[in-house]
Amino acid sequence: MRITIQDIQAMKKRGERIPMLTAYDYTTAQMIDAAEIPMILVGDTLGMVVLGYDSTVPVTIEDMLHHIKAVVRGAKRSLVVGDLPFLTYTSPEQALHNAGRLLQEAGCQAVKLEGGAAVAPIVQRLTQAGVPVMGHLGFTPQSENVLGKRVQGKTADAARQLIEDALLLEQAGAFAVVLELIPIQLAQAVSERLRVPTIGIGAGAGCDGQVQVIHDMLGLYTDFVPRHAKRYRSLADEIRGAASEYAAEVRAGSFPTESHASKMNEAALQEALAQINNV
Ligand code: KIV
Repeated sequence: MRITIQDIQAMKKRGERIPMLTAYDYTTAQMIDAAEIPMILVGDTLGMVVLGYDSTVPVTIEDMLHHIKAVVRGAKRSLVVGDLPFLTYTSPEQALHNAGRLLQEAGCQAVKLEGGAAVAPIVQRLTQAGVPVMGHLGFTPQSENVLGKRVQGKTADAARQLIEDALLLEQAGAFAVVLELIPIQLAQAVSERLRVPTIGIGAGAGCDGQVQVIHDMLGLYTDFVPRHAKRYRSLADEIRGAASEYAAEVRAGSFPTESHASKMNEAALQEALAQINNV
């Protein structure tokens, strides 16, 4: 049975912390699902860690559809949340059209969008239409060109604004809110004031759950580890090592061996060669 938004909200009520990871493909989604991670985010970080862009801005709804479909095929139990990319939810009608595509064509169970008061009417329209919405406050990467600093909410005004935005998103119907790169105390204060779960990234342990970009925790994307991430494995080293070993064996002729392919009946081969020679 797939996890529902009600299950996620019940976890907060029980005081159970909620782990969430990003995934962008079938194979990774299968592994995360098997690890019993209750929520998978097909984030628009796709743009950087999979598609090689500098930011999330170039990511399109078609890119998201393609990757969400793959993740949904791999995740049988985890709730799959798909990001609405930059400028795909500028009006309630546009948001409804694009969120509808993510749910109907790609098969995810919820969408995520960035912003506070300005997007509250959009969150309300989507939830009234039956689309579960996860909010995203603090550092919102789609707006990186206007935000300047990465850590948000450090001044009294900014902190008050962020708490008000979080309450507005909850009132508009958001089932959870991501808090990215905000001070630990502010994230704790927001988490205490919201009934719906907060999911932190670089916002401390006071959030109800945590989300990490899987490439950061597996050491796959760059050698730089962002402050908000913890590297649990160094898979890039493993992959580079395996690729070099493979190349050396191909060059030396030690891969493949006879066990990696099949043989045919010698008489059949001779017959085929004789036929060719007779042509
Ligand atoms: O796109 C993404 O992966 C995200 C997370 C960093 C929260 O929005």
